[in-house]
Parts: sequence; C-alpha cells; structure tokens
Amino acid sequence: MRKVRIGVAGLGRMGRFHAEDIAYRMKDADLTAVCCRSEDRARQMQQELGASYAFSSYEEMLDCEELDAVVICTASEKHCEQVIKAIEAGIHVFCEKPLGLTSKECLTVEEAALENKNIVVQAGFMTRYDMAYRKARGMIAEGRIGRPVYFRSYRMDAVEHIQSSIDFAVRSGGLFFDVAVHDFDLARWMLDDELVSVYAMGGCYRYRAFEATSDCDNGIVTMQFRSGAMGTILSGRTCAHGFRVETEIIGTHGTVYIGEGNGQPIVYLYDERGVDIQFARQFIDRFGAAFLEEKKEFVRCIQEGTSPEVTVYDAVAATKAAEAADESYKTKDYKMLDDWGN
Ligand SMILES: NC(=O)c1ccc[n+]([C@@H]2O[C@H](COP(=O)([O-])OP(=O)(O)OC[C@H]3O[C@@H](n4cnc5c(N)ncnc54)[C@H](O)[C@@H]3O)[C@@H](O)[C@H]2O)c1
Repeated sequence: MRKVRIGVAGLGRMGRFHAEDIAYRMKDADLTAVCCRSEDRARQMQQELGASYAFSSYEEMLDCEELDAVVICTASEKHCEQVIKAIEAGIHVFCEKPLGLTSKECLTVEEAALENKNIVVQAGFMTRYDMAYRKARGMIAEGRIGRPVYFRSYRMDAVEHIQSSIDFAVRSGGLFFDVAVHDFDLARWMLDDELVSVYAMGGCYRYRAFEATSDCDNGIVTMQFRSGAMGTILSGRTCAHGFRVETEIIGTHGTVYIGEGNGQPIVYLYDERGVDIQFARQFIDRFGAAFLEEKKEFVRCIQEGTSPEVTVYDAVAATKAAEAADESYKTKDYKMLDDWGN
C-alpha cells in the first residue's frame, strides 16, 4: 500500500516529536513536509529529518499536491481554523489536543467533518493508546470491578516546564483546556459514559504568574456521569519529581489502578545504596509508545478508509467539559453539561 504523505504544522516541542516519529518510526508514512511560522526553523527541520518540503505558511503547505495528511501541533487557539482548512482542502487531519478552546468553534469542526466523511479527522488523546489504560478499560468493560462508582485521575506536569506553561498560558486556554482535557476524554472513554456536571476549583499555589490569565497552577474538577458515577480530576503543573499520571476506578465489586507500578513507566535504578525507583521524567517518556500508536491508527484509517477510535464528537465533548470547568473555576458554580453551549 502507498505510504501516507504527511506534513507537520507547528515545530515546537510536540511538532518535532511527532515529525521524528513519522520520519523514523512509521513505515507506512512519509514525512513529506514541515511547516513553521519561522522559515529558518522549518528549513532546519526539513534538513534534519529529510522532509521534501519546508513551508512557513500553513495555507501554502495545504496547497502542496504531494500531501495526503497533516498533523497539527500549533498553538491550541489555531487548531479549529486549521482543521477546517485541511478538511476543505481534502486533506486528512490529526490534531493535537485540545481540538479547540470553545465548544462553539469545535462544533463547526464537527459539522465540517460530518459533511466530509471521507476525510479522517482524529484528535490527539494519546492516553487511549497506552497499553496499561487499554487493558484497564477492557477489565471495566468485562465487568471485573462491577458497576463503576468513582473515577479519579491525577495528571501533573513536571515543574521544570513551568516557564513554558506560563508563556503558553495566554494561548493554551488554561489548565482545564491544556491538562484536564486529557482526563475528561479518558473518563468518558474508560467508563463508556457521558459527563453531566462539573465543579472546579484551584489556585496559584506556587506561581502567581497564572493569575494574569485567570488561570491556576493546580486545580481539581469534581464531576458526575450520566450513570450516576462520581469523579475527580487533579491537574497540576508543579510536580517536583517529573511528569506524573495515575488513574483509579473504584467499582461496586473491585478497583482498577493504572499508575507508575510494575510496568514500563517505572525505572529501577540499582546502585551501592540499593534500589531506587525512578519515575518517567516527562510525558513523552511515559507516553512515547502511545503517541506512536495514535498516529499509526491515523495512517491505517487513511489507508483502509475507516474511522479512528477518537471521534470528533469525543474531542468536542472534552473541550465542552474543559470550557465548563474553566467557567466553574471562575464563577464558583456547578455547571450542567447538558445545558452547556446551547
Ligand atoms: N498530547 C499531549 O500530551 C500534548 C503535550 C504537549 C502539547 N500538546 C499540544 O500540542 C500543541 C503544541 O504544543 P507545543 O508544546 O509543541 O507548543 P510550542 O509553543 O512548543 O510549539 C508550537 C509551534 O507552532 C508554531 N505555530 C504557531 N502558529 C502557527 C501557524 N499558524 N502556522 C505554523 N506554525 C505555527 C509555533 O511557531 C511553534 O513552533 C498544543 O496545542 C498543545 O496543547 C499536547
């Protein structure tokens, strides 16, 4: 089967990472083009990774006749507009999370995707492609924990990235769009359920710089699912020892826990003092394989004409929950999701 020719837009931290995956680790894909507002950066990455084309304009990249698909890794505020442009150009599109910063703009993407069902549109919720999370979800689906009662998830970025989070805060939409959005998607997916209400709180416990954008450095969201199950999400940016993610679902007959246990994410260090447990330092260390799997599914869907597991509807639902949580944080009120955005 012909390789899928992909262009990567946005060549910051995530763009470079996805572009390297495509160039070196995906036999069914070709890194055809790279695009960044900085022409120098685009040229440099083109040479380093062996892409055929370098663009400083996203629109010009979409005009490239040799392109089948794009991977969007630009600032979150640009995502919806760029996804729609790709769909309109007949180009398959994988978009990093969040799909958008308002449910209203996300719904325009959903509309465009529904009108162009031949175009694969996938959102970057890579946690779904992590083997441990997939296994746990299977156990829940098989009824191994009975009826889910409580979902909790912690996702905390390494504090060493704090400056980039502060710089990015103006364009990221804030903690609930940038970090919690992963867990809104995870919660819906793992419990195969919908969220009906959220209530958020948080604060600038260590970095008051986030106050400038009405954002916070740590926050929690309590939520209720349509089934009646309860949930909480903790999202943070100040984790001292590195990136931390863990999730637990308590059911009527058991509990499933996904964390930094005996599996891949833990590194055991043996030295003269004995054993030291090293946690994955960065989200890329923890989810490297999942980031690759999500793009492999994207390419498979293009080649086989199928649809990805993460639908545009899922991405819209996650943004909707993030938007409601952000509003709840600011107004200190519960938000009912069924009424949200109507
Ligand atoms: N899935 C995950 O766990 C995960 C982790 C980190 C970031 N992200 C997402 O990835 C996206 C990028 O984050 P990042 O950390 O790489 O940011 P970044 O600031 O490092 O990089 C963004 C890049 O996009 C470029 N850019 C912006 N607008 C552009 C345009 N119109 N055309 C071309 N290039 C443009 C910028 O010049 C920059 O190089 C964000 O939406 C973020 O939410 C996802």
